[in-house]
Amino acid sequence: MDKLLIEGGPALKGTVRISGAKNAALPILFGALLHAGSSEIRNLPDLEDINTTRLLLKNMGVEMASEGTTLSLDASMMNSAKAPYELVRRMRASVLCLGPLLARNGFARVSLPGGCAIGARPIDQHLRGLEAMGAEITLDKGYVRAEAPEGGLQGARVVFDVVTVGGTENLMMAATLANGTTVLENAAREPEIVDLARALRSMGAEIRGEGTSLITIEGKHRLGPMSHHVLPDRIEAGTYIAAAAITRGDVLMEGAELEHLDSLIGKLGRAGVEVRREGDAFRIRHHGELHPVDVETQPYPGFPTDLQAQYMSLMTLAQGSAAITETIFENRFMHVPELARMGADITVKGRTAFVRGVDQLHGASVMATDLRASVALVLAGLAADGMTEVRRIYHLDRGYEHIEKKLAALGANVRRVPQDEVGVDSL
Ligand code: UD1
Repeated sequence: MDKLLIEGGPALKGTVRISGAKNAALPILFGALLHAGSSEIRNLPDLEDINTTRLLLKNMGVEMASEGTTLSLDASMMNSAKAPYELVRRMRASVLCLGPLLARNGFARVSLPGGCAIGARPIDQHLRGLEAMGAEITLDKGYVRAEAPEGGLQGARVVFDVVTVGGTENLMMAATLANGTTVLENAAREPEIVDLARALRSMGAEIRGEGTSLITIEGKHRLGPMSHHVLPDRIEAGTYIAAAAITRGDVLMEGAELEHLDSLIGKLGRAGVEVRREGDAFRIRHHGELHPVDVETQPYPGFPTDLQAQYMSLMTLAQGSAAITETIFENRFMHVPELARMGADITVKGRTAFVRGVDQLHGASVMATDLRASVALVLAGLAADGMTEVRRIYHLDRGYEHIEKKLAALGANVRRVPQDEVGVDSL
């Protein structure tokens, strides 16, 4: 396993290009299972989670060929409807194959994701929704076994108890091939759901209301080939905005859709970070004081939980105290003790972290056990004095395309080395 070595200090300057969105690409890849033939997906990011998804699809008999960021798939020879534990444990989003498999095949066997570093993350809403569509669900030796009724899934009205991105996506995909109309209430409104709806529509699916909390899907007997260009990654964009801000840099960002980041940009504006449009790109600049601004995570269009850790890194250097409240996941403060090792002053009480700004962070050896927490430590390292060693960057590779190259191109002193090489303490 590799680690990153970061010599903090330089203000980031230059241009960064945002990649395709991981969280849109994953359900869309599974969505291609809904057509027993070929599909084409463009603007796929080069990420470990995408590789894991491709392995899952390959296991099911899907043939794939990639050229640059374009993937051609042929799902006509599908010969398995199983998602094995070895792959699901690497990536919880594997559960998103359940809906498409059940709709296309009438049967699916998907390993339960198991415990996860950011809380229990159950899939009860996915399963309840599929049951409402007539599926019989049993749990067997760590696997979810789902069987559609004779004649296929039935359209249904599903009211989610909690707003769930994955649950909305799974049911939306299942409903495209169901008999009759499915109505999803209290649905998630994330841009990735809108992108999935577009991808499914390119196959002939009939979907209305995506981007609102009421989505209606008219089931079809058959879908055709998917042809889709994945939307830009708003979380990657938000992360580079935070990177520019924390280093007091001046960065031009290309390929992003910043209207998906209104909540972050609103908060940053109050904190004193300037983000403005320049033609098709965006410029992020920060020099004066950094003001503390409170944040509470919420489902979209609220402040994204996937940017909470990065925002906290930034607030560790604010002139005052900010309260950061996590409402989506119960255990998503794993970056706090690691940031404290770098000199941050943070107290957690329940779901709120009280961050008192310090003058300077200091390089240290740190490690985190989830994707966004890991990148928050990279951001802190960019601003800290001395050397920061971010260990176990497996998590970063799951969700950030070529992160060390993109940061180095902006002037950061960052390099990837094998984990067993000399540690920061002896540098
Ligand atoms: C997706 C994103 C993840 C993001 C999260 C919230 C992908 C691949 N991942 O994850 O990056 O942090 O949305 O924006 O798109 N819940 C239940 N029962 C369920 C499903 C969810 O109780 O059946 C709870 C979860 O435990 C969590 C909350 O609902 O507390 C939101 O989870 P959900 O929106 O489903 O997150 P994911 O789809 O797993």
